[in-house]
Amino acid sequence: MNDDGLTAASLATLANKRILLGMTGGIAAYKCAELTRLLTRAGADVRVVMTTAATEFITPLTMQALSGHRVHLDLLDVDAEAGMGHIELARWPDLIVVAPASADFLARMVGGQAGDLLTTLLLASRAPVVLAPAMNQAMWLNPATQDNLLKLRDRGCHIAGPASGSQACGDTGPGRMLEPADIADACAGLFVPGLLNGLHLTITAGPTREAIDPVRFISNHSSGKMGYALATEAVQAGARVTLISGPVNLPVPDRVHCIAVTTAQEMLDASLLSADNSDVFIGVAAVADYRVSDTSDHKIKKTADTLQLNLVRNPDIIGTLAALEKRPLMVGFAAETQHIEQFGREKLQRKNLDLLFANDATATFNSDDICATALWGEHGSQTLGPANKNLVARQMLTLIAERVSAGQPDA
Ligand code: CTP
Repeated sequence: MNDDGLTAASLATLANKRILLGMTGGIAAYKCAELTRLLTRAGADVRVVMTTAATEFITPLTMQALSGHRVHLDLLDVDAEAGMGHIELARWPDLIVVAPASADFLARMVGGQAGDLLTTLLLASRAPVVLAPAMNQAMWLNPATQDNLLKLRDRGCHIAGPASGSQACGDTGPGRMLEPADIADACAGLFVPGLLNGLHLTITAGPTREAIDPVRFISNHSSGKMGYALATEAVQAGARVTLISGPVNLPVPDRVHCIAVTTAQEMLDASLLSADNSDVFIGVAAVADYRVSDTSDHKIKKTADTLQLNLVRNPDIIGTLAALEKRPLMVGFAAETQHIEQFGREKLQRKNLDLLFANDATATFNSDDICATALWGEHGSQTLGPANKNLVARQMLTLIAERVSAGQPDA
């Protein structure tokens, strides 16, 4: 149980999830402010849809401030459709939770009506649905409502609550909406826990560029594909991912927080900030080992037959982080062209890493496939691939999850 009253398992499974909160008219709507706060604090991305009746009980402005997104109110809103149209919104969530779900709303849902935005979304979406009913106890006990509930349950909706107790109208009995933490737990319970549930991973990827003058730079052939494959697969496994990327031609993977950097120094600064609250740091980037000491402010003209550049060592990003007192699990890569395993093991020890993937640099850059040797501890080793980088990324993440568990006190 954490400060918010959520279980640790709920917190872990809610991270990175897309939750659409549908609010209908009822006095319990005020509890949705707290529900939204709990879900977002657990790392979920929450979008709110309110019926007209719901806006009589709590303002859209409150829900917008808490969710961090514009609240969706109308089916036929030209501006909203230009942003995220209702069909796009129906495809967006991993889960829809309707809270409070009024008696009228349940009846309209049973009838398959689509007269407003929320009912339309529910018809158009394939996401699992949690309904948190809230109404007067007599309305709840009425056979019409109970009939509707049975039908909705048969169609696969999950019914959370209601609780029993004193009601706003003065009655006592069943019909009170569940408390926000219980609704959040009910939502979390519908997600299958992944291998990296609840972990924050920081991944560096791609090359860095070190300027010579305003139009030229030193860099390397790194495509970023391995780092991006790891980021994609880590999100699938339930992790929250920060990707610190040098210049590459790849789209940012879904749900990944990407920080674009250019130089090794910028990559180090971003890595130090992100690693501070990360469980795992994976250095996949091909960091330029040297930078030009006296970068020219103007384009260098070709007046002489030879040109000398003074290069100075760049900071070692993974080495700097591994030397910190409070540090995440450190995972490195070693791109070698000879004696791959021997040089890899030396790098593992020299940089004080927990796990290292050594691979043949000449065969890896810009390729869709990879073959790597995982090295850890004194003697631990395992060959991964050759296979597609996404497939090998999954094997790498399995080994990383094992190292995380091995490092935990009760492991
Ligand atoms: N690395 C880093 N900062 C650097 C250089 C490398 O964080 N300035 C990280 C890479 O992201 C990788 C690991 O260190 O995880 C090994 O990178 P590699 O280029 O193979 O090793 P180098 O330290 O550059 O050693 P060398 O070039 O001598 O092989």
